[in-house]
Amino acid sequence: MDGFPLTPPYRLLYEGATMALPPQFLDDLRTRTPLPGLIGRKTRLARNGRQWKGCCPFHNEKTPSFYVYDDHFHCFGCGAHGDAIAFLMRAEGASFPEAVERLASEAGMEVPKPTPQAAAREARARDSHAVLAAAAAVYQRRLRLPEGRPALDYLLKRGLTEETIARFGLGWSGEGRGALAADLRPEGITTEQLVEAGLIKWREPDDPASGTSDLFFGRVMFPIRDRRGRIISFGGRVMGDGQPKYVNGPETELFRKRQSLYGWDLAREGAFRGATVIAVEGYMDVIMLHQAGFTGAVAPLGTALTAEQLAALWQMSPEPVLCFDGDSAGAKAATRAVETALPALKPEATLRLATLPAGEDPDTLVGQKGAAAFQAVLDSARPLSEALYGLLVGHLPSATPEQRAGIRALLVAKASVIEDKGVSAEYRRALLDRFFASTRTERPAFARPAGAALRKGPRKPWDKPPLVRILRTPPEDPRPGQARILLAILLRQPALLPEVEEPFCLLDLPPGPAETLRDAMLRWLPHAEVLDSAALMDHLREHGMGEALSWAIGADDLPLEARPEAQPKEALDGWWHFFGYLRGEDELSRDRAEAQQMLAATNDPAAQQRLIRLTEALAALRRGETESGAYGEQA
Ligand code: UTP
Ligand code: MN
Repeated sequence: MDGFPLTPPYRLLYEGATMALPPQFLDDLRTRTPLPGLIGRKTRLARNGRQWKGCCPFHNEKTPSFYVYDDHFHCFGCGAHGDAIAFLMRAEGASFPEAVERLASEAGMEVPKPTPQAAAREARARDSHAVLAAAAAVYQRRLRLPEGRPALDYLLKRGLTEETIARFGLGWSGEGRGALAADLRPEGITTEQLVEAGLIKWREPDDPASGTSDLFFGRVMFPIRDRRGRIISFGGRVMGDGQPKYVNGPETELFRKRQSLYGWDLAREGAFRGATVIAVEGYMDVIMLHQAGFTGAVAPLGTALTAEQLAALWQMSPEPVLCFDGDSAGAKAATRAVETALPALKPEATLRLATLPAGEDPDTLVGQKGAAAFQAVLDSARPLSEALYGLLVGHLPSATPEQRAGIRALLVAKASVIEDKGVSAEYRRALLDRFFASTRTERPAFARPAGAALRKGPRKPWDKPPLVRILRTPPEDPRPGQARILLAILLRQPALLPEVEEPFCLLDLPPGPAETLRDAMLRWLPHAEVLDSAALMDHLREHGMGEALSWAIGADDLPLEARPEAQPKEALDGWWHFFGYLRGEDELSRDRAEAQQMLAATNDPAAQQRLIRLTEALAALRRGETESGAYGEQA
């Protein structure tokens, strides 16, 4: 388990077979196929530090000796070993093309057709790796020549150690004018190959007759490597204040900016050894962080973080930290990154967001205040679920009703882009909770002392013997009984759910089966094809809530409106009535005031309905309390 597997031997398993497919395609396929998800379908896996562990699906064992890493699995019992493709071949007896086809379709990728052009492209890509490695050697050599002295001094003055300079392979470009081509010619590297590798360009695009011009001259060179450590391009920095500050190589067969991360190869190893995976903005940030011991640091390549880069982060860690500047540009970048991340959130793939002190980047922070200062930034990173509300809404304490309606719609819309249904439902609830809480300062969770609401009761139309029975013999706390009726009504009449979804969602329920059922119903609702009682109950039973269900509808003392034969109108009236009890008078009057505002602002019929309901519920509650004779004293 030790030894970081950078060049896994298992590739030999099907080396012959891979020749027809571009290695880039296979790399992408592996990046986009989270192994724990794939293997978890065959054997139960549990997290074990940075890895996953379970019983080997390939031999019979009772104590787990099967480990799953970010890009391969290994069984210490039987020696089974391989990547996602090898797993499918072995576990399902699939051929290599079948396994690739299946993984690609699950990852939403298309398998490229093997053509002579593709084969030629692949050969060129192999060439390019060699060309880029040769160029890196030239740049590193030049850094040690007298002409490279200012560059070396620049790097040392920025606080880099010799060891760091070597680890990142930093170099000096030379002054250009064909120097690189001249240096590499003795190695048999042609101009065409240099263009292909993105090291120089034709003066006129695609026109070899136009002659060449250098891309990198007078710059400190930063090799950009792929996840396996092979150089795919370079970034070059001017030493002074010249513009542009950084030049990066162009998109090539090997270098696709959206799919690459600076520092990826080292961060993979760092993460494997337990480092926090951190995304920062710049090359120098990555380098300084690694030097300070934060070996899980990476950066995108001069653009906003892409979905592909997020997938790469998640392959290294279930909860990478995105680190942003403390200014408004940083906040904007954070919002963009979160927008990119939202659809792909999973229980095992989320984010934390860290904000740097204003005016600092990780490089300056570590340089001036030391590693502890950056560690403090990491420690203060907030889970996405907490940070999201602030990012979406900002701080609008005195928003108008129109703005509030807009904000609420935005929150619901944002939660709904999360493709994982469970995570989506949780975010929806959390966001709405925050939204309503933000307008109700110092709002107690449940305004009324337990029991107070039920001391006395209303009269009609729900004042019927069975109801009286359940309410007149309450134990200490009447709320579980009330909650049960509320739930039973909706279980029998799920068609009412859309109308009451929001108050239902926000109601404080006693912990236990009531909450469990409510959450499950709200999760079911957006995906239900018909709002049918039998379908809902089947769904709940299938999800292990049979017992909670019996608790809610199994009692024989449920009031009429909570029984299957109740009319929808009756049921809805009853629902609002019990809602009023559970909510409490103070809360209800605040709800009503808000509904009033909303109606005034939007003139929306739904708001009007809501206002009427809340007014009725409040009236019933007050009537019940002012009239003599509580439930408990009747019958
Ligand atoms: P920054 O301007 O924040 O630079 O750009 P930096 O990383 O802090 O660099 P130093 O500390 O001044 O040396 C962040 C990243 O944006 C990309 C680079 O990837 C850089 O690391 N960038 C920036 C460019 O691609 N081109 C530029 O001209 C500037
Ligand atoms: Mn910087």
